[in-house]
Amino acid sequence: SLAGLDLRAEIERLRKSRNAVILAHYYQRPELQDLADFVGDSLELSRKAQETDAEVIAFCGVRFMAETAKILSPEKIVVLPDMDAGCSLEDSCQPEQFAAFRAAHPDHIALTYINCSAAVKALSDVIVTSSSAEKILMQIPKDQKIIFGPDRNLGGYLARKTGRELLLWPGVCIVHEAFSETELLKLKARHPDAPIAAHPECPPHLLDHADFVGSTSAILDYAKTVPAQTVIVATEPHIIHQMQKAMPDKQFIGAPGADGNCNCNICPYMALNTMEKLYIALRDLEPRIELDEDLRLKAKRSLDRMLAMAS
Ligand code: 13P
Ligand code: SF4
Repeated sequence: SLAGLDLRAEIERLRKSRNAVILAHYYQRPELQDLADFVGDSLELSRKAQETDAEVIAFCGVRFMAETAKILSPEKIVVLPDMDAGCSLEDSCQPEQFAAFRAAHPDHIALTYINCSAAVKALSDVIVTSSSAEKILMQIPKDQKIIFGPDRNLGGYLARKTGRELLLWPGVCIVHEAFSETELLKLKARHPDAPIAAHPECPPHLLDHADFVGSTSAILDYAKTVPAQTVIVATEPHIIHQMQKAMPDKQFIGAPGADGNCNCNICPYMALNTMEKLYIALRDLEPRIELDEDLRLKAKRSLDRMLAMAS
């Protein structure tokens, strides 16, 4: 039983004895963000995973993020506190169907959002994150036909922003789909001076109301620099923890779901990770990400292109 254990102290002890680094995404519980050696968006987290000289990476995020760390750092042990921490975008894009979609469009390359399995990365040409997608898309010749998956909202946003035609895979993030336009407009009416910062995983009818669209890190930077006392945040609400820490005098309001509050927009996959499970993962070095070497090398090609084109 873990009862009576000082989990924080035990995690600190294991972090040192295992030579581990703890990486966390902004959508993690506040106590995990506070423990982490580094908190960031998907691109920053993959760079950290590649650069670290720790022997163990404890990834407080979802499975595709921990898999990305393992693809880039195969010699390291990568643990994920809960192996069921998946992603609705990953679920929407099974490799067999994605391979069939590609085969049906042989003149297209596949530009693929990092929110997918290693198997789908292996079937892709270039991976992108929300922070790097536009920059990478601009480097692809204008006459090149492109499949974009699995997030149709990010893909639609990129197509509108760049004027490029993209053949979209129909996946969505259940978290960003759950915001209510009606409730957002009611909130905005109560806070007319508060700008709305939104993640591009939001559907277009929400992005239409946004003053700023960007990745989690970009939204955090915007919240820090925008000259407004109140900011409405249309992404997973755990990021507000970092905003409140950096700017205790500003007010950050999570965009509401249909029930009028932001609790229904907590990512159920991200929320599976807890202090208890992180402790066990560092203690037992399980659950561990393991990948077939051939699959890893194929997935690494598309990820390496992202890292080169994003820098
Ligand atoms: P970023 O942190 O790269 O913006 O990704 C958001 C997200 O939904 C991760 O699952
Ligand atoms: Fe996937 Fe959405 Fe959760 Fe991110 S917030 S892990 S995209 S379900």
